[in-house]
This record gives sequence, C-alpha cells and structure tokens, in this order.
Amino acid sequence: MPEDRESKDSKQSSKPRSRSRRGGVQRRAKTDGGKPKGGTESPGKPEPKSEKPSARADKRHRPNSPKVRKGSARLPEDERKPTVNYIRELKGKRPIVALTAYDAPMAKLVSDAGVDFLLVGDSVGTTHLGFETTIPVTLDAMVHHTAAVRRGNPECLLVADLPFGEASLSLDRLIEACRRLMQEGGADAVKLEGGRDIADDIERLVATGIPVLGHVGLLPQTVKAIGGYRKFANDREEAEEIFTDAIALEEAGCFAIVAEMLQEKVAAELAKHLGPPLIGIGSGAGCDGQILVTPDLLSLTPGPPPSFVKPYADLAHEASKALGRFVGDVRSGRYPTK
Ligand code: KIV
Repeated sequence: MPEDRESKDSKQSSKPRSRSRRGGVQRRAKTDGGKPKGGTESPGKPEPKSEKPSARADKRHRPNSPKVRKGSARLPEDERKPTVNYIRELKGKRPIVALTAYDAPMAKLVSDAGVDFLLVGDSVGTTHLGFETTIPVTLDAMVHHTAAVRRGNPECLLVADLPFGEASLSLDRLIEACRRLMQEGGADAVKLEGGRDIADDIERLVATGIPVLGHVGLLPQTVKAIGGYRKFANDREEAEEIFTDAIALEEAGCFAIVAEMLQEKVAAELAKHLGPPLIGIGSGAGCDGQILVTPDLLSLTPGPPPSFVKPYADLAHEASKALGRFVGDVRSGRYPTK
C-alpha cells in the first residue's frame, strides 16, 4: 500500500455539487431494500448471478466448520451472509470490516476472523508479485488469484478488483472482464476504480447483474498520471470533486464505495451524505467501515507500511527467524533427528 505522504488537514466543508448527474437512473434490476439517504429514490440492485445463498448457508453450518479462533470477532452463530444486501444493510448498525486476500489459505484465515467481505485486490501486484505498482497486474492474474481465494471457501462476500485498463476500452470488454472474474474466478462482485467518468458503465454492469463496489479518492491505478500517492480532498475544490464522483457511483448503483486516503473530515461528511456504506482506507474513523491490505496489517508487505496502518503482527520477522533456525538446524545436523 502507498505511503501517506501528505497530512495537511482540510478545514473545508464539502457540499455535494449535484445528486443528479444524469437526471436519475433509468435501468435497474429489482429492488432489494437498499436505503439510500437524501431523498433519492432507492432503485433496486440485483444480487450476483453466481450467488447460491442456500448452498453457502449449508456450508457455514456444516459439522466440520472451523472453530471460532481466539481473538476473532466471528460469532459462534455466524450471522454473515455473502450478499451485497447484507453489506448495504450494515450501514448505521455497526462498522463494516473488510480485508484483502490473494490465495486460498489466507482467504480462509481472513474469513474465519469474521470480516464482512473479502477483496482480491490488485494490490496483489505489490504484495505478492514483486511489482512497484498495481498497473502491471493483468486480468488473467486477477482471475487466477480470485479462483484461489474462492477455493479457500470464504464464508463472506468475495469482491475482485478489475485491473488497470479493463474499464477503458469498451463496454463489451468491461463486461467480459467482469464475466471472467465472476464465472472463472468465482467472485460475487467486482470493484472498479473511478468516479463519474465510469458511472454510466457501472450502471450497465449493475443492470446486467454484476454488483459493483466503487472506489474514490486515491486511485492507485492512476499513480503514473497523478505523479505519486497522496492524500485527497485537501481543498474545497478537490472535496467537491470527490463528492460528485461518489454521488455518481451511488446513482449508478454501487452497493458500497471504498474511500482511499481522503481527508478525514471530508470522508466523515461523505459517509453521512451517501446511501451506500463508505469503506475507508486511510480516511479516518468517520467512514461506515474499514478495509486494509492484509499483508500490511501482518507486516508481510516489503518496505515500510503506510502511515495509517496499525501492524497487528510482525509475521515477516517471525518467518525470518523460523527460516533461519531451519537453515541452522540442517547445517548443524539438528534436523532431521537421527
Ligand atoms: O487493491 C486493493 O487492495 C485495494 C484496497 C486498497 C482497497 O484496492
């Protein structure tokens, strides 16, 4: 994850520029009980085509279901549902919690910890694939990692990131990319970086039955264009831009929106204004929930973690000690024992 390189606090109040970029939403699947605020009619959002709630519910209660781990927030009676409605309806009830995973074992660990949803982020590029940014991550790589996470059998909603460039070429290509993430990868929903520029396409995806998680603020896929990672909504103009983008995403039917590295006051105000939950990363405590990159949380990401991350374990250090002991034991004849 990017380092927070800027911390200038914005004292600006942010007001929405418009709630109706395109004069409202026309195409939308059946209503599902979402409750956007602010007087906008609540159009229905479809459930993912790949969801099989009853099959998943059975798995959750299977006899060999994993035990609740010490320190886990997971309830013995797991109330989570792998649906976008479940995420949407948590808004205002309790903070939503999400983490990333990129392979089967970590998917199981993260799910068993009790997260509400799990993201196969294109952060896989920097956390696992040795890239400097997320830009080189391909659709094939995202499908590969999403399928691995699905095989880990997580018991919560599984969202997959749409990688760089896939939203830019044509709507057909975008739908095909989402189809692959859902049909080949087993994702329940997709995440797209961007605001009003891609809102029309998101509306089409939602109408097609593809649930979409939005992403505003710092968009890591634009790092080459913006010249580095930084905090967003530092002044009134930028805060208004973010509001306009987030409102466009709400109107397009996003079930929730990630807000990355927004000034905290702006993020808190935006969370109050929006109908869908605002899931913050480096955007303060005023959001409706939090998401972090799991290897950052566990100190497994190479390099210093972003300033907003609280490390909950130092697994790189533990692994390094264990591996060193093994090498020493083999060389000195302590392993294997005779
Ligand atoms: O790729 C990713 O992990 C993300 C999170 C930072 C939200 O987009």
